[in-house]
This record gives sequence, C-alpha cells and structure tokens, in this order.
Amino acid sequence: MFTVARFSLLVAAIISGGVSAQSFVSDPLVDKVVPYTAIPYQVDIHTDGRGPQAGYNICNSTTENQDSMCQTGFINHLDDFCLFAPPTPDSTIGDTEGIEVAWCTKKGHGTRLIPEGTLKGVQLIQSPGYIEIVGFIDQTKLNLQDGDYGGELDSGGQDGRGNPIGGLMYSNAFPSNNGDNTTYQQGRHWTFFIGGNTFCAKICDDTQPNAEGLCQHIYDRIGCAYNAPNNAPTGVFQVCQGADMVPVGVYVSNGVTTTWTQPAEETVPISTIPYTPTPAASSNCVTYTSASLYTDLVAVSNSGSTATTTATGVSATVTGQTTATGAHTTAKSTAGAAGASQTAGSGSSSTSTGTKPSNAASANVKANAAATAVSVVFGFVGIFVSVFVFA
Ligand SMILES: *[C@@H]1O[C@H](CO)[C@@H](O)[C@H](O)[C@H]1NC(C)=O
Ligand SMILES: *[C@@H]1O[C@H](CO)[C@@H](O)[C@H](O)[C@H]1NC(C)=O
Repeated sequence: MFTVARFSLLVAAIISGGVSAQSFVSDPLVDKVVPYTAIPYQVDIHTDGRGPQAGYNICNSTTENQDSMCQTGFINHLDDFCLFAPPTPDSTIGDTEGIEVAWCTKKGHGTRLIPEGTLKGVQLIQSPGYIEIVGFIDQTKLNLQDGDYGGELDSGGQDGRGNPIGGLMYSNAFPSNNGDNTTYQQGRHWTFFIGGNTFCAKICDDTQPNAEGLCQHIYDRIGCAYNAPNNAPTGVFQVCQGADMVPVGVYVSNGVTTTWTQPAEETVPISTIPYTPTPAASSNCVTYTSASLYTDLVAVSNSGSTATTTATGVSATVTGQTTATGAHTTAKSTAGAAGASQTAGSGSSSTSTGTKPSNAASANVKANAAATAVSVVFGFVGIFVSVFVFA
C-alpha cells in the first residue's frame, strides 16, 4: 500500500513535471525507532535529494550554545520543551524547513536556548494519546522573519526525511516513563506549526492505539486551528489535562461521520473547509508565572552576531514582553500558529473579536478568512510540498 502510494506520487509528479518532487526514501524518518540511549550522530544518512542533514542528533554540553545545530527536541513539561526554528536570523520557515534547529527552555539538552521574552503564553495539554504545547511568541527572537506565517514541520516531509531533515522528538512525560524525568520515549509521529507569532506542537505516544491518526501530518495548510484546536489564552502559562482531539479532517454532519482531506494542490484555495474544529475537553488547568518557569532564559539573546543581538535582544525583550502581555491579557484569543483561530472571548475577562491581528499573510489566508465566519481565521500558508505526504 505504501509502495503504491509512493509510486503514484512519483508518476503524478513526473506527469506534471513537478519541480518540487522529491523521491521518497526507503527508510522514512517516521519508521525509525531511535531509543534515547542510542541516538546516532545523524539519524538521516542521505546525501542526495535535499542534501545531507544540516545538523546533528547527539547534543551535549559542547553543542549547547546559541549557534547549536542540534536537531533533537523535547516536550517534557511546561518549563521544559523545545521549538524548531531557523538557524540564521530573518529566515522564513518555507525557505528553511529542512534545516530547522532546536531551541529549548532549559539548559541540559545541548541546544540553543529560547531567548528571554520570546514566550508570550504557553499551554501544555497532556491527553491519553499525546503531549501538546501551543503558544504565543515573538518569533523574530527565534530567527523567524517578522510577518512570516510559517508552516508545518513534521517527521514526514516531501521525501520522508522529515522537516527538519533528521529531526527527532522525545518526551519524559509519557506513561511509560512512570514519572521518571531521566528516561525519554521517542515520538515517531509528531507535528509542529510555527509562524504568525504562534506555534503548536504535538508528540503522539507510539504505545497508544492511534499515534499516526492523532499526529496526522497531511493537513499542513490549515494551521493549528485544525491541527491542534485549542483555547490557549495569550499571556497565560498553564498545564492542563485533556481528552484526545478528534483527528484532523474528521467531522460529523447530520449524524454522518466524514473525513475531509486537504486539496493537494497549493493553488487550490482552501476556502471551503466543511467544518469548524472544536477544542477537545480539557480540565485541571494549573497556571504558572513565566518568571517561575523559565529561569534559564534570563538574558539569553538571539543567535547570530553577539553584538547585534545583545543590543536588540535584551532591551526589546523588556518592552516586547510588557506590551504584548499587557495588551493580550484583556483579550482572549486562541493560539493557533498562523492557522490561528481567533475566538471571541469566551472567558469572563472581556470580549474580543480578533484583537490579535488576523493572520492574513497571503491571498490564501485572506480568502479563507473572508469565506468563513469572522470568529475563525485559519489558513496556514502551504508554502511547501509536504502536502504530498504518505500516511
Ligand atoms: C557531543 O556532541 C557532538 C555533536 O554531536 C559529538 O560530535 C561529540 O562526540 C559529543 N561528545 C560526547 C562526549 O558525546
Ligand atoms: C519531573 O519534572 C516535572 C516538571 O519539571 C516536575 O514537576 C516533577 O516533579 C519531576 N519529577 C521528578 C520525579 O523529578
């Protein structure tokens, strides 16, 4: 079945003269079982196609600096997770998807640290099938161009090598870890959206029945609103328990369960998604202050030239944080990495209909927004071909 799918893609690509077509590797990243204790220097060994893996997977104290090319990430706890973002300043996800590197909240993972003032609100949800974080960021501190609406990174990719190529994800918070923070379980199925000053990341638990379905990665154009429906408030840092989401694309209409699939062609506007996603039920949310969580990030600046980043880094951090937090705590919007769903304030604090600027980065997104109810703005711009993923 797998072979057939791959074969038809190749045929289709050849017929259409597909410029971006990549041949699919025989050893896809998503199939690689890599115990934490046996991580190789690089998990991807290919050199053709998109070229060799840009960074490495063995990360330690010698690779722990703001130029680290570590590509092994974690979602452990609210105070201990990593995001994938570009290695050099002013990049777009579309241009750098294959070479993103890990930026973490804690020392000890051999990675870059997320610069202070980057995180503007994070919600971690642990459900039976996965661990998920969504949040608001100042993405320029993570080398993302201001205004880039980003895209999806995952363990699939156009050629099966993942985006970033060779990116690995682990967690110490799955049931198999029995509360032991020193053991890590790999999540072969994971998805991660970043852009539009938001992110959402999910690692599915491979020991659970539907890791592949809950971390489906063929919906790269419709952002967090659909891939990780959430009610994360801006300016708030919290951990919740949750039920598993309904797999992306699956909805019930007139009592009939249907699966919607994203149109494969990037040129086809996604203006008619037939459903509006509902966040899965969550409970027992515990809220923390960012100061208590991210103590390792104090005065960490961006990568690149130390002189430049220190100057912007630190002072911008202070203003940025104050303004953003202040502005956002009165409103309630929903984290949704560019595919953001902005919901009208359902909380008691205030009403807001899209206080956060709508993520109308592109014609696609604008069209989407216009074609849908005002309360939902989605449309993670599909700037790349991971639409052609073989699940
Ligand atoms: C530390 O990580 C680097 C980069 O992966 C690797 O080359 C080096 O061998 C590692 N050092 C140790 C002591 O494992
Ligand atoms: C594991 O880490 C979490 C969050 O950092 C912490 O709350 C918990 O106490 C730790 N567990 C152990 C056994 O150290």
